[in-house]
Amino acid sequence: MNSSSPAQRTRRRARAVLAAFTTAGLAATGVVALAGTAQAADTLGAAAAESGRYYGAAVAPNFLGESGYASTLNREFNSLVAENAMKWDATEPNQGQFNFSGGDQLVRHAQSQGMEVRGHTLVWHAQQPGWVQGLTGNNLRQAMLNHISGVASHYAGQIDSWDVVNEAFEWDGSRRQSNLQQQMGDGWIEDAFRAADAADPNATLCYNDYGTDGINAKSDAIYRMVQDFRSRGVPIDCVGFQSHLDSNANLSSYQQNLQRFADLGVDVQITELDVGGSGSSQANVYGQVTRACVAVSRCNGITVWGITDKYSWRASSTPLLFDSNYNKKQAYQAVLDALNAATTTHGGGDGDAPGNGSAAAYHPAAWRESGPATEQIT
Ligand code: XIL
Repeated sequence: MNSSSPAQRTRRRARAVLAAFTTAGLAATGVVALAGTAQAADTLGAAAAESGRYYGAAVAPNFLGESGYASTLNREFNSLVAENAMKWDATEPNQGQFNFSGGDQLVRHAQSQGMEVRGHTLVWHAQQPGWVQGLTGNNLRQAMLNHISGVASHYAGQIDSWDVVNEAFEWDGSRRQSNLQQQMGDGWIEDAFRAADAADPNATLCYNDYGTDGINAKSDAIYRMVQDFRSRGVPIDCVGFQSHLDSNANLSSYQQNLQRFADLGVDVQITELDVGGSGSSQANVYGQVTRACVAVSRCNGITVWGITDKYSWRASSTPLLFDSNYNKKQAYQAVLDALNAATTTHGGGDGDAPGNGSAAAYHPAAWRESGPATEQIT
C-alpha cells in the first residue's frame, strides 16, 4: 500500500472537524500550546497536545458523579475510552437489541469537555453476552457483523479510533482458539475490519492486544497480519498496544517495536497503560513508555487504564497515576515531564503532513487535512 484508501482520507476529514472543536475548547481554558515554544504544560492532556497527541483514560460512567473522579478526568485528560460500557455484553445484551446508555453518557461527557473518544471494543473473546457463546458457524459470523454494524454506525462520527478486534493472538504467535476463531476460521479478523469500515468510514480502525511490548513472537505475528492487510487493502489504520506492565518490565525493544509498525503505514497508540508498583521504579517505566511514544511520530497518544488506583482493575498493584485520594503520584510527574520534553510531533507519518510542524493545533488531523475544518462529516 503506498496511498490512502478513500475511507482513510474520509477519516482524516472527520478528525479535522474534531481538531477545530477541541482547539476551541483548549483555548477557552487557556492552554493552547504556542508554535515553536518550549512552554511546559501542567496537565497531561495539555502536555500531550503540545506535540499533537492525546492523553486519555479509561472511564466508567457510574463514577462520573464522584467529584474527585470527574474533576481529575476533566482537568488532566483530553481523551477517554469506555472501560466496559462499549463492549459486546454491554451494548447488545440480547441479540439484535442494542443498549447504548453507558457509552452515550461517556460520549456526551467527552464532547462537553472537548475530549476525543476511543471506542473499545467491537469484537473480543471475553465479555461476550451469553447468547453469543452458543452460536456456531455462519450464525456467529452474521451476529458479529450485525454487532459491528449496529455499534459502529450508532457512534459514527463520534469515535476517533475503534479497537475493532481485541486480543486475537497467543503468546507464541498463533491465533487464539476462541469461539470466534474456531467457528469462523482465519478470515474473521479482516471481515470485522471491513464491517467496521463500512459502518464508520471516519474512524481510525485499530487491532489491539497485550504482551506486545517489544519484538517477540506475538508482536511478530501481529506485524505479519498488519503487513498482509495493508498489502491487500484490508482497512486497518492502527495498532493498539495495551501495555499492562509492572515495574520490572523490560522495555528494551519497546520503541523499536512501535516504530516497525508505524513503518507499515499505520498509527500506533498505547491503549491501556498501567504499571504495577510504586515510587521511582513505577515512575521509571511510565517515563520510558511515554518517551518511546513521543519519539515515534505515528504514535498518536496514550491511554491509561483508569484514573485512580481506587477503581483500577488491578487495584492491589496500585498501577495508575493518581492514588485513591486523587493525589498525583511520582509516576504522574514522570509522564508529564516526558510529554513536555517531546521533540517529535505527531503527524509526520502520512506523507501529507509537515514532518516538523507547529504544535498549535490539538490534533494532527489539522496538519494532514487540507480541507476546511467546518467540513461536514458524512
Ligand atoms: C477490563 C476492565 O478493566 C474490567 O473492569 C473488566 O472487569 C474486565 O476487563 N484488556 C482489555 C480490557 O482489553 O477491556 C480489559 O478491561 C483489561 C484487559
